[in-house]
Amino acid sequence: MQQVVVTIDGPAGAGKSSVAKLLARRLGYRLLDTGAIYRAVALAARTQGIAWSDAARCAGVARALELRFDFIGDRNHVYLGGDDVTAAIRTPDISQGASQVSAHPEVRAALLELQRRLGAGGGVVVEGRDTGTVVFPAADAKFFLTASEAERARRRVAELAAAGTHVDHADTLREIRERDQRDASRDAAPMVAAPDAVLVDSSTQTLEDVVDSLARQVEAKARAAGTFTSRDT
Ligand code: DC
Repeated sequence: MQQVVVTIDGPAGAGKSSVAKLLARRLGYRLLDTGAIYRAVALAARTQGIAWSDAARCAGVARALELRFDFIGDRNHVYLGGDDVTAAIRTPDISQGASQVSAHPEVRAALLELQRRLGAGGGVVVEGRDTGTVVFPAADAKFFLTASEAERARRRVAELAAAGTHVDHADTLREIRERDQRDASRDAAPMVAAPDAVLVDSSTQTLEDVVDSLARQVEAKARAAGTFTSRDT
């Protein structure tokens, strides 16, 4: 079967990371977490004393980013330079920073080629905000995953608690709204469903059901892509 590019976009807390990870494993595909790249830029800028509002200098940070992903067991580890920043990029503060740096067109431009290179060759599940619209507009299978605000906040609180960070539900809901608003209203590659994306509301579905459904749809697309390829050649 053809190895295709799968994109999963959607707002914070919709379950993209969990779904993308399980889907990639089910299909035997690689996983590309593009949000982690923006988070790494925010963290690197902070470490270098660069304000997240400084577009030119944040773009410089993005161009010089020495980023590496590595699956260890079940966890997608992220390395910045030599440092394992897997946990450091997930704090609420860096979430806001990632959202802020990602609004700069210069930063997005600096990261575009990196994302395309990391996803080259197919056989990859890519997750983010603009992966089906801008990064991989020709992707074979596109999904826009969402869930109600309350459910997304509940999941984010649980996810951070599992990692040992305890945050307030109301604060988390406010942060999610703030981030969605910024991510969806920016001029550069706003978070929006691609016209050819399948909309998936995960509010009332289990993770397993969502993954099952997406896997079936990707397999159908992959079969169709294989058919077209062999007919074309
Ligand atoms: O998916 P995430 O929460 O890790 O993403 C962090 C921020 O990065 C998000 O608020 C907006 C930005 N982002 C983006 O602009 N484009 C992407 N493809 C992925 C993330």
